[in-house]
Amino acid sequence: EAKVRKALLKVHEEAVEWFHLLLMRHKVAEDARAYLKSRGISPQTAKDWQMGYAPPYGDMLREWALERKFTENLLVTSGLLARPDEDSGRRDTYPRFRHRLMFPIRNEFGECIAFSGRVLDKEAKAAKYLNSPETPIFSKSRVLFGLDKSKRAISKADRAIVTEGQLDMITAFANGVENVVAPLGTAFTEFHAKKLKQLAAEVVLCFDSDTAGYKAAVRAFTILSPTGLSVKVAPLPQGEDPDSLIRGQGVEVFQEYIGRAREFFDYMLDSASANRNLSEVRERSRFAGEMASMILLVDNNIVRDAAVQNIARRLNMPEDEFRRQIARAQKPSS
Ligand code: CTP
Ligand code: MN
Ligand code: MN
Ligand code: MN
Ligand code: MN
Repeated sequence: EAKVRKALLKVHEEAVEWFHLLLMRHKVAEDARAYLKSRGISPQTAKDWQMGYAPPYGDMLREWALERKFTENLLVTSGLLARPDEDSGRRDTYPRFRHRLMFPIRNEFGECIAFSGRVLDKEAKAAKYLNSPETPIFSKSRVLFGLDKSKRAISKADRAIVTEGQLDMITAFANGVENVVAPLGTAFTEFHAKKLKQLAAEVVLCFDSDTAGYKAAVRAFTILSPTGLSVKVAPLPQGEDPDSLIRGQGVEVFQEYIGRAREFFDYMLDSASANRNLSEVRERSRFAGEMASMILLVDNNIVRDAAVQNIARRLNMPEDEFRRQIARAQKPSS
């Protein structure tokens, strides 16, 4: 068990170096270097995050593994090699990551425990991001991307900015906003929440300004709020994410949006006012019902009372009536 973990960490450490060297130097990575350039990722940033390039050819990976005496079994366990489906007719293992920009995923101690690979071709039909599978050293639900680098700044600011994607995290960090993390994908877990709660009192959700980002914010609130974290939301201009906003308009503009972060319930009320007809009695009552069940997730009485008053006032609803609705409500299932 301990031996397997050690061997897996070794494979990852070596793979980080190899992928990185390929990205920076090898002629096979020309497309990848052009891609970095097109996204405004500097060689320094690529180096800071040990970004890499996974070549399209299996023989390169095999040669590399042979030189380092890594067995095929170990590579399969690490997820760098994949076994074909039973019914695919193929028998040989093949590299999981091919022709992708590679991001090392590190635990909070800085050890690489997995990879995330981004496709380089716009027309590619494959998933935009591919992560390592769950392994003895990698559990997606327990890792926050970038935390090894950002935890000090998070603790110091007593506040964590949470973005959806790793490039959002990287771009913010590279531009001096260092108290940032990203879950891998949009699913937030209780483990993530507890981790953040240990470091800070407040979380600012800064997700993509689209439907997926809205849903992710609601879901994140249901996980984060029960830990006692104060949850705010910083909505960005429509269609932007932190990476695109910082590159397009500069980090100062991003900072302004973060500075204008709204209490979670105000964010919900803002979104509802913009997207739903709350002057209609039944729609307003339905929305109040949704808010009532979210309120149950706030465990701090003072914060809860303030939110109740705020929501009732903004919905033009007697507070008592809203409180009766809360008494009937059930916690949302996340
Ligand atoms: N994601 C994923 N698999 C996908 C798409 C997205 O795991 N097929 C995860 C990635 O961690 C990604 C995050 O969800 O970073 C947010 O998705 P999206 O906004 O689509 O990606 P971006 O981070 O904006 O990626 P990019 O800027 O490189 O297009
Ligand atoms: Mn702190
Ligand atoms: Mn998105
Ligand atoms: Mn995005
Ligand atoms: Mn993006």
